Amino acid sequence: MKVSPFIKWSGSKRSQAKEIVSYFPKSIDVYYEPFLGSGAIIGYLKPRKAVTSDINKPLIELWRELQKNPKNISSYYRKQWNSLQKNGHTYFYKIRDKFNKEKSHMDLLFLTRTCVNGLIRYNKSGEFNNSLHHTRKGIHPDRLEKVIFEWSTVIQKYIFQDFDYKKTTQHAQKGDFVYLDPPYFNTGTRYFGAIDHQEFIEYLADLNKRGIRFALSYDGKRGEKSFVVDIPKNLYKKHILIHSGNSTFNKVQNGKVEKVYESLYLNY
Ligand SMILES: C[S@@+](CC[C@H](N)C(=O)[O-])C[C@H]1O[C@@H](n2cnc3c(N)ncnc32)[C@H](O)[C@@H]1O
Repeated sequence: MKVSPFIKWSGSKRSQAKEIVSYFPKSIDVYYEPFLGSGAIIGYLKPRKAVTSDINKPLIELWRELQKNPKNISSYYRKQWNSLQKNGHTYFYKIRDKFNKEKSHMDLLFLTRTCVNGLIRYNKSGEFNNSLHHTRKGIHPDRLEKVIFEWSTVIQKYIFQDFDYKKTTQHAQKGDFVYLDPPYFNTGTRYFGAIDHQEFIEYLADLNKRGIRFALSYDGKRGEKSFVVDIPKNLYKKHILIHSGNSTFNKVQNGKVEKVYESLYLNY
């Protein structure tokens, strides 16, 4: 049974998790996920041992809190949710300002659950700038509490680090497995953090040299337009296109709904 996401996140693999995991090796010693985000894949896979990271510090602090203190997060969200119902949008913007000053992980949860489409979007100065989703109330605290406690049980033995991806897998060995879901190269500032394409290619080459298996989610294609960024052919054995939804991007102009695909590269 998969665990529902406790946090909303840009680029979450929630809808593709089942298919992506179906391509994973059957036997994994330690599972590594260096671009964790909302952890849609670990919620599906539930590996025995996991080492995870994300460069977004408040996000990792939130994962650690979820692991050690689920009750605390749940009651904090309940308090904030009640204040939102009572005071409306002024409360949301008060918490948004507070988050931009203090970067508290506890506020991050509330913001992702109540902002427009749960999109964690930052401006150029690194401030969270999405607005309140006026027509939605945010997940009810009773429902979220259930999800929080389920997650907390699953992740008790996992390791959460606020490292850069390269450092996260430095001790990985043969028999281990790395799932990579980096920020896309063609979406500019939508995600927190950015990675250098050339450095990333060298990183993949190093994993190959060390005999470590990986699966990499990467840019794909929409309709006829390909976003496939060059991954040198010697770095992987299989390239799979995964249907990740439909885009209404061109609908207004030409009435066309196009299928969106994302790439999955496997080196095994
Ligand atoms: C596409 S999202 C991952 C989504 C995740 N698979 C999920 O299901 O929610 C990419 C993540 O990489 C993180 N990130 C960006 N640059 C990074 C870096 N250099 N090292 C580690 N994480 C990074 C971002 O903070 C973001 O959470």
